[in-house]
Amino acid sequence: MQAKEVTYNGLTFVPFINREQIAARVNKMAKEIMRDCGDVNPLFVCVLNGAFAFASDLFRAFEYDAEIAFIRLKSYDGTGTTGNVKQIHGLTEDITNRTVVVIEDIVDTGFTMKRLVEDLKAKNPTQVKVASLLYKPESLQCDVNIDYVGFAIPSKFIIGYGLDLDEQARNLPDIYVLKEE
Ligand code: IMP
Ligand code: MG
Repeated sequence: MQAKEVTYNGLTFVPFINREQIAARVNKMAKEIMRDCGDVNPLFVCVLNGAFAFASDLFRAFEYDAEIAFIRLKSYDGTGTTGNVKQIHGLTEDITNRTVVVIEDIVDTGFTMKRLVEDLKAKNPTQVKVASLLYKPESLQCDVNIDYVGFAIPSKFIIGYGLDLDEQARNLPDIYVLKEE
C-alpha cells in the first residue's frame, strides 16, 4: 500500500512510521514489559486522549494477567511562576502496592510525564514504570525516566495513531510528520 500525504488545517504531513513498523515495535515493547512485570498483575494507566490506540494494542499484546485504567490530565492556568500545572483526573483505582505502567503516546518536553509520575508515586504504588510510544530526546526539558520507548524521533510535529492536530487525525492508522517545505 502506497501511503500518501495528508492535509489538516492547511498543513501537509508525509508518511513517517507505518502500521507494520508500529505493530512490530509495540509487540516488542509488550514483551519487554512482560519480562519485567509479567508476574505482578500490573495496572496499566492509559493517558487519554492520545494514547488510546497505543494502549489498545499494547494491552492486548500483554499475555499475562493485568488491569487497565484510563485517566485524563487536566490543565490549570497557574499563577505566578507555577506555569501550566496538570492534575490527574479520573483515577479511581487504589494503586497502593501495585506496579503501575503508564501508557503515553509521546514525551516531548517531559513536563506532563514528570508531573504525572510524581502524582502517581504519592499514592504509594510499588513502582511506576513509563511506556511511551514516541519520545523526542532533543525536546526534553526535565528529568524524567522512560522505561519503555517505542521510537525516539526528531523534534518535529507528528500526527496519527492517536496523535492529533486540533483533535483531528487520531484515526490515521499510520504516523505522519509535518512536511518541511
Ligand atoms: P510534554 O509535556 O511537552 O512532554 O507534552 C506531551 C504532550 O504534548 C503529549 O501528550 C501530546 O499530547 C502533546 N504532543 C507533543 N508532541 C506532539 C506531536 O508531535 N504531535 C501531537 N501531540 C504532541
Ligand atoms: Mg498525550
